[in-house]
Amino acid sequence: MANVSGLISPSIPTLKRRNQPSFGISRSGYHSFDKITKRVFLCYSTVEQGVPKHVSVTSPSESRVPRRLSQGCKLIGCGSAVPNLKISNDDLAQIVDTDDDWIHKRTGIRNRRVLSGKDSLTSLAVDAANKALQMAEVEPDDVDLILMCTSTPEDLFGSAPQIQKALGCKNNPLAYDITAACSGFVLGLVSAACHIRGGGFQNVLVIGADSLSRYVDWTDRGTCILFGDAAGAVLVQACDGNEDGLFAFDVHSDGDGQRHLNASMKEETSDERKVMFGSNGSAVEFPPRPYSYSCIQMNGKEVFRFANKVVPESIELSLEKAGLSSSDIDWLLLHQANQRIIDGVANRLNIPDERIISNLANYGNTSAASIPLALDEAIRSGKVQPGNIIAAAGFGAGLTWASAILRWG
Ligand code: COA
Repeated sequence: MANVSGLISPSIPTLKRRNQPSFGISRSGYHSFDKITKRVFLCYSTVEQGVPKHVSVTSPSESRVPRRLSQGCKLIGCGSAVPNLKISNDDLAQIVDTDDDWIHKRTGIRNRRVLSGKDSLTSLAVDAANKALQMAEVEPDDVDLILMCTSTPEDLFGSAPQIQKALGCKNNPLAYDITAACSGFVLGLVSAACHIRGGGFQNVLVIGADSLSRYVDWTDRGTCILFGDAAGAVLVQACDGNEDGLFAFDVHSDGDGQRHLNASMKEETSDERKVMFGSNGSAVEFPPRPYSYSCIQMNGKEVFRFANKVVPESIELSLEKAGLSSSDIDWLLLHQANQRIIDGVANRLNIPDERIISNLANYGNTSAASIPLALDEAIRSGKVQPGNIIAAAGFGAGLTWASAILRWG
């Protein structure tokens, strides 16, 4: 349960170490958390004095890096949920002209989970959120903001309020959706930090959940092999500035690239409409035809090129803002889109294989859910330990991309 100082008394074994002295052992050697904190403040204090000496002024997000950290935030709970139905590459080979070998070699994917029957994305999200609250030992009534990062809500007006209702939050906390495709979860984390640092929020639930299977053309072997459904959640809690766990971030979008990856709205063409003259004299078809979203359209090669270029650049910028280098990172956690993208980015950043988090083989690309799902698995398996530093990055439709340097716990 959160106490008055914002610290928690964790009940699960992995969190107990949070109260230990300010250093720990990581794969990259001993980490002094004090050292990290000093680095962060060094970075910020340099910014406060004017133009940073060691950061070139190139990024639009740079102005959004907090100048002063009187209020910090930290990640203290996580959870995830996936649908029961598992679809293997061999299963897909029964409906499109493909095979396990091709899919695995080009993408790293073996299986994906798909919503079916009465499964709902909202219930997956609620499941993931409940697990995150349980780990954080935070009651639903103590949550004061829910950010549902999804591009596939089950209500056009947003899924977050339904999640708030299902969690049983009695105080009507604000709950809203963030639509930013596969970058959604990282942008949700950044938004949570901004709400906490600038808005006085205490406990922010960030959920990444998507069901792209509902927008996949299951006759298109170029796209249907890639995607799956899932939900993941993280509880971000306010803390003292010197305990802050979001060191830096970098966020972007490029609407020009939308043509390479989209699921645009289209007009239904089937039913006849009368042409009418409106009261201002313009001829219109009325009533308007219903609209729906088309299936995912993707230029795989362009998206592959885009990700390999922007993701390492963005992580390098975030590291620079945090005053860290890639050797300070315990884990690289990218949006799980393609193992070749993950390996290419790790290679460019000189991050060895053993510091890469990947569960893509089991779930495919689950859009906004992929980072919290992989994080949750890595934390619950004991791979990621409290105090570990993670470079996370999301990228995808929009086009959007975002990276953040985080500390778990
Ligand atoms: N099974 C077998 N063959 C397939 C196939 C499949 N599922 N999909 C495509 N092919 C064929 C193509 O028809 C083509 O055949 P051809 O040479 O006879 O014309 C050949 O394989 C190569 O296709 P191509 O599209 O050039 O493959 P690729 O190497 O670019 O790999 C992706 C395709 C989709 C795996 C790859 O482009 C990719 O992962 N891009 C990034 C996509 C992504 O991550 N999107 C989400 C971002 S959030």
